[in-house]
Amino acid sequence: MEKREFLTVALGLGAMSPTLLATATEKKLETTAVAKGSSLFRTAPYLQNISETAATIAWTTRTKCHSWVEWGESEALGNKAQTILDGQITANNTLNKITLDELEPGKSYSYRICSREIIKYNPYGVEWGATETSPIKTFATADASSDLFTCIFFNDIHDQLPVFNTLVKNVAGLDYDMSIFNGDCFNDPREESRVLNLLESYNHGIRASTIPVVYLRGNHEIRGAYSRQWPSLVSNPGGQQYFSMSRGPIRFVFMDCGEDKLDGHWAYSGLNDFEGFHREQAAWLEKEIEKPEFKNAKYRVLVHHIPIYGLNAKAYNPWKTLWGPILNRAGFDISVHGHTHKAIIYPPQTAGDHTYPVVIGGGPKMENGTVTILKASDKELSVTILDTQGKTAGSYQVQRKWRKENQV
Ligand SMILES: [Fe+2]
Repeated sequence: MEKREFLTVALGLGAMSPTLLATATEKKLETTAVAKGSSLFRTAPYLQNISETAATIAWTTRTKCHSWVEWGESEALGNKAQTILDGQITANNTLNKITLDELEPGKSYSYRICSREIIKYNPYGVEWGATETSPIKTFATADASSDLFTCIFFNDIHDQLPVFNTLVKNVAGLDYDMSIFNGDCFNDPREESRVLNLLESYNHGIRASTIPVVYLRGNHEIRGAYSRQWPSLVSNPGGQQYFSMSRGPIRFVFMDCGEDKLDGHWAYSGLNDFEGFHREQAAWLEKEIEKPEFKNAKYRVLVHHIPIYGLNAKAYNPWKTLWGPILNRAGFDISVHGHTHKAIIYPPQTAGDHTYPVVIGGGPKMENGTVTILKASDKELSVTILDTQGKTAGSYQVQRKWRKENQV
């Protein structure tokens, strides 16, 4: 490590005398991440937004860098991906979201992330620091022809890593294809360092370098100063916090409920317009449920943090009147939520006028924490809620509806 630091930093110094070189090197080393004994990588890579033909790899660095991904069909790699915007290769940044495209469905790929530190960005010539590469990782692209898909859901962790780590152990032996954090896992994000530490812990727990992860906002991700930057850490289809994606036999629809109180509540200081955001999503939902990807899907799964059904009758619930009628005629097979801190499954109609089963995960304590497993096969969609002891807190099965559209 020491040798690499010296060599890479010294490279940018040109023909200086040994004394000047030593002084300059010492001075510059103070400013570099590696000189402080740290990796350039602030977070390990985490996979976002995987489709049949593309995958986005995200990570952050401790200092400003030029970053890229080396990838290929084997560990020989052979390809290089970087982001180019208006003729400039993205550089002098710390947050990276680099997309590999023109991939093939249902295929395994290898990759590693690479970052080269920028010590000084001059108008004429950049002074480079160390270059760092990660170990090689693998991932698989989506495969619409597959009848099999498994994903795991966490909700309402509220920064409680001991609870999360316990839940992760309960699914350690499970072969899953995607992880979903269904809101309130980042509690009132105030500053970047805390959010990145938590993100790194979550990503490590669910092996996000090899299995894609979806981070959905709950009402707590949108409180605190860093809530304004939090969305930049994720990469969703369409670039927004509500979106849809097809994975295996499932069409997932992700909605963002926003806050759990009216925009005019004093706590929001007049800086929210979630009521407009709800209407925007209602219009989007109307279009989504008419798409062939939705209509022809073997299963349709709805995901949002605050449940519309199963809430206290007096609770703020604008979604029931605005989204409810659309959701009820869409033909969802199941929906998955959090927020109430009480794990429960409502079969259709039992907690209101919903046409689909409603699954709600637990809370942030050892007594009520849960991880939810959703499995699709050619015959059924099954959901199992596990508590921190690994015991089943609820389960439900939905037989596959042989819809006219997807009968072959
Ligand atoms: Fe919540």
